[in-house]
Formats: sequence, structure tokens, C-alpha cells
Amino acid sequence: MARPKIIVTRKLPEPVEARLKSLFTVALNPTDAPFSKEKLTTAMTRADGLLCTFGDKMDADILTANGKRSTKIIANFGVGTNHIDLETAEDIGVVVTNTPGVLNDATADLAMALILASTRRMYFHEARLRRGEWGGFDISSGLGSSLRGKTLGVIGMGRIGTALAQRAHFGFGMKVIYFNRSKVLVPSISEAHAVESINALMAEADVVSLHVPGDVDNHHLIGTERLALMKPGAHLINTARGDVVDEAALISALEAGAIAGAGLDVFEQEPRVPEALVALENVTLLPHIGSATLETRIAMGMRAVDNLVAFFADKVPPHQVM
Ligand code: DGY
Repeated sequence: MARPKIIVTRKLPEPVEARLKSLFTVALNPTDAPFSKEKLTTAMTRADGLLCTFGDKMDADILTANGKRSTKIIANFGVGTNHIDLETAEDIGVVVTNTPGVLNDATADLAMALILASTRRMYFHEARLRRGEWGGFDISSGLGSSLRGKTLGVIGMGRIGTALAQRAHFGFGMKVIYFNRSKVLVPSISEAHAVESINALMAEADVVSLHVPGDVDNHHLIGTERLALMKPGAHLINTARGDVVDEAALISALEAGAIAGAGLDVFEQEPRVPEALVALENVTLLPHIGSATLETRIAMGMRAVDNLVAFFADKVPPHQVM
């Protein structure tokens, strides 16, 4: 029997590409340049399986491919699937899988790095130094704030939120409170306690970190009103999805100094980052690199391949989303 044909939309780490080649007929993307809408649509008519990722917007037009679809499975490289029209995929019988579990540490590490960058005002200091404006050691200007004894508020106490809570509490001496939309049955760390609402968390935390999926319910979860509840010295960290935060409202809060700072790895219209954000020195901006370590990207790729292998062996893929 002919090997299933897999089209891969981005450059993958070498060991993942090698494994794919050993198992399937594969069309790789050597350049890492994203596919256009037309190219994604054509891929849906030529592949048995598509390995794509965040940024490949798989809308209804692409998924149905004008009735010429051959693709039966979309193996997403990543946990979040908000770039895929899951309803249409379900309607037309396309299986969608993801790669959870293997990126918790990398993403929690990056959230912790953003907490440190924001509270210690690293970008502000680095920019000043690079502009040649550093006049030498000084004692009392540009001071940041310490983490020990401060409160971290985690919104979304899933795997990544939990991994961050552990780092913040055990590594940096922070108290942890959290809000999760469903009840967390086994508290991640016994020292963390749940609060009754997002509003209560926003008002109490010194650092708020977002770890919710980018679904319709979470669109602009954090907007003007909730930002106004934050303490003036508080920081907002987002490594989840850009549209969880109303970016315009956040810019206004940062410009007004209503909150002390923010650390953002995700944006509403990636890869577009508003100029007003770029101009601010009380925000650290990263280009969606939460899971971007070599080890993690290999593990994610292997998980995507595991899903394809199971599917084409007529088994339920281990990480089937729907
Ligand atoms: C994910 O897994 O959803 C990340 O955002 C992409 O690495």
C-alpha cells in the first residue's frame, strides 16, 4: 500500500523531519516561510495529512478546499488550536490533533523570565545602556521591585499555569493565587489558593499571568475594566494568546502608568505589533517564543508524528482534539 502523503507547512527540527521521511511520503518546507492561503488550500487537496502550526489560519474555505479535499488529518504542531476552524473540521470529518504536555516547562520558564524582565525593568535599562545613556552605577534611579512575598495571580491553572506557580513559589518565594474556570480537582501546589473571580485576582495580585486557551470565551478577557482593578505597581504577563488581552486597553494602561509594566510573548494580530507598544519602555516584547527551545520543539514534532502514525494505523491518535 502506498505511504500516506504528509505536507508540512514549516521547517521542522532535523530529527523530526528524518522520522517523518522514514514513515511517510513527505513534502517538507525547507524555508520556514508560511504558506499563503492558496498554498494551504492546494495542500488540502494533495495531502493525506497536513502538519501545520499556529499562524497557518485553517479557515472553512481552506479546510473544505472547494470540495476537492483529500486531507483527513491536521496534525497541529502546538497545543493551541484557535487558528483552526474546529467546527468545520468536525462537520467535514477532518481529525485535528495537538501536542500537549511537552511544552509546559519551556513556556513556564519564559513566563518566569517575563516576570523578572518586567519587575526588574530590564528592557528600560538595556535600552538606556544601548543608547549610550548609562552614566555608571547608581543607587536610586530606575529601581524595580522584588518578588519574594509578592502575590502571583495565575489565570488558567492548567499544566503551564501550574508549572509557573511552582517556579514562582518555590524558586522565588511568591504567594500564589489562581482562577480557573472549571474546578481544579488536585491543586497544583498546596500553597496556591483559588480566588472566586478574575476581578478578585486582578485586584489582589502583584503579577498577573495568563494561561488560558485562545477561544471565543476568552477573547478580550482582560480589558479596560479589569486592567483598572490592578494595583498601580502590578505587572501583566501574557504567554497565552494575544487576543485574551484587549491590546488597545493595555496600551492605554501602560501609557498612563496605571500599571507598572507588562511582559508579552503574544499579540492580537501576529506578527503585527502595534507601534504604540514598541514605543513603550515599560513593556517587554517577545516574538511568540514560549515553546522555542530545541528540545521542546523536537518533542512537539515527535508528538505530532505520533498522532499521524496512530491515525494512519487506524488507531485513535493520542492527542486528538476532536
Ligand atoms: C502553542 O503550542 O499553542 C504555542 O503557542 C505555539 O508554540
